Amino acid sequence: MRPLGVAITGFGNVGRHVAEMLELRRHGYRERFGVDVRITGVCGSAAGLVDSNGLSAKRLQERPAFTPGLSGDLFMSAVRADILIDAGPSDYRTGGASLTYLRAALRRHMHALVVSKGALVTDLRNLQHLAAANSVSLRFSGAAAAALPTVDLIEHNLAGTKVLAIEAVLTGTTNFILNEMLQGGLDIHEALRLAQEKGIAEPDPTFDIDGWDTASKLIIIANSALGMDLHLDSLPRQGIRSVSDIDVEQWRTRGVAPRLVGFVNRQTGPVRAGIELREYPQNHPFAGLQGSMKAIRVLTEEMGELTVLGGASSTPATAAAVLKDLDHVLSRITA
Ligand SMILES: NC(=O)c1ccc[n+]([C@@H]2O[C@H](COP(=O)([O-])OP(=O)(O)OC[C@H]3O[C@@H](n4cnc5c(N)ncnc54)[C@H](OP(=O)(O)O)[C@@H]3O)[C@@H](O)[C@H]2O)c1
Repeated sequence: MRPLGVAITGFGNVGRHVAEMLELRRHGYRERFGVDVRITGVCGSAAGLVDSNGLSAKRLQERPAFTPGLSGDLFMSAVRADILIDAGPSDYRTGGASLTYLRAALRRHMHALVVSKGALVTDLRNLQHLAAANSVSLRFSGAAAAALPTVDLIEHNLAGTKVLAIEAVLTGTTNFILNEMLQGGLDIHEALRLAQEKGIAEPDPTFDIDGWDTASKLIIIANSALGMDLHLDSLPRQGIRSVSDIDVEQWRTRGVAPRLVGFVNRQTGPVRAGIELREYPQNHPFAGLQGSMKAIRVLTEEMGELTVLGGASSTPATAAAVLKDLDHVLSRITA
């Protein structure tokens, strides 16, 4: 049985879920692809663990067994792996440590699966060139709305079509907060607190409620699947921070549902893209999005309009999106 090593950089919520799920699916990979997928290394910001024979889920739960200092370049030199899964923090200004890990991995002919968004927002095009030059895959479903298919939808299901417009609810947290305000009668602070209690919102919610999260996902989707060149600092961006009780009352009276959406429109005239708080009538598919569900509507010249709803935010769903990418890589490797 051919062994296949997987390294994970960033071993927090998502990284751990990926490791657990990988172990559960290991037998299936053997049967379906004829490969023995094993985790050969994981690292956090200050420590890591490598073993070419594979690290069991039980061993990976033993944080104290991690080797201090085995992170960054040291980790990348020590680990023997065919695939890198990057689940470190998202640094939207510089790409952060993730960018360094990804560059190093691709140069070493490792396939890369990315959950963190920063490196993709800042340097996607160069990473794609690096992957192509080294004949490996760079996939990032986990960073592009995870359980909601976005890039895959355009690149596979709508392959070959001309995409005229995209409109998408990409952040589950903002959808949850808006729903709680409209349906649950909470003000924005109460709705945010509830989202945090349920583990949907981060302790620092700025990134979600000011529209940065939606913007970064839209950039990843548009720049990869549509070949665009959007930048975080120049993308027009609205958030939901300033939504007031008066706004909510007006939406209720008019019977519309507010949604924070990322959009690209290249139907006529100059291309427009941005993040806007839009209103939808009750018969629009976006109006019915419950909880932290997401959605994407794609308009193509040849196939008309396609809308996908679902992909609620959760760590297990994100981990599963990473392993969806792994399935594609295994298909490629073993074809
Ligand atoms: N949670 C989700 O559902 C979700 C969904 C989509 C995308 N994402 C993205 O996925 C990434 C991980 O999310 P998470 O929820 O798992 O976050 P998390 O629990 O905070 O985990 C991130 C981990 O990265 C590690 N790290 C920090 N600096 C590092 C470095 N220089 N080298 C290696 N590891 C480093 C941290 O390790 P230490 O503990 O050692 O500092 C931490 O354990 C984020 O970029 C997030 O935006 C998450």
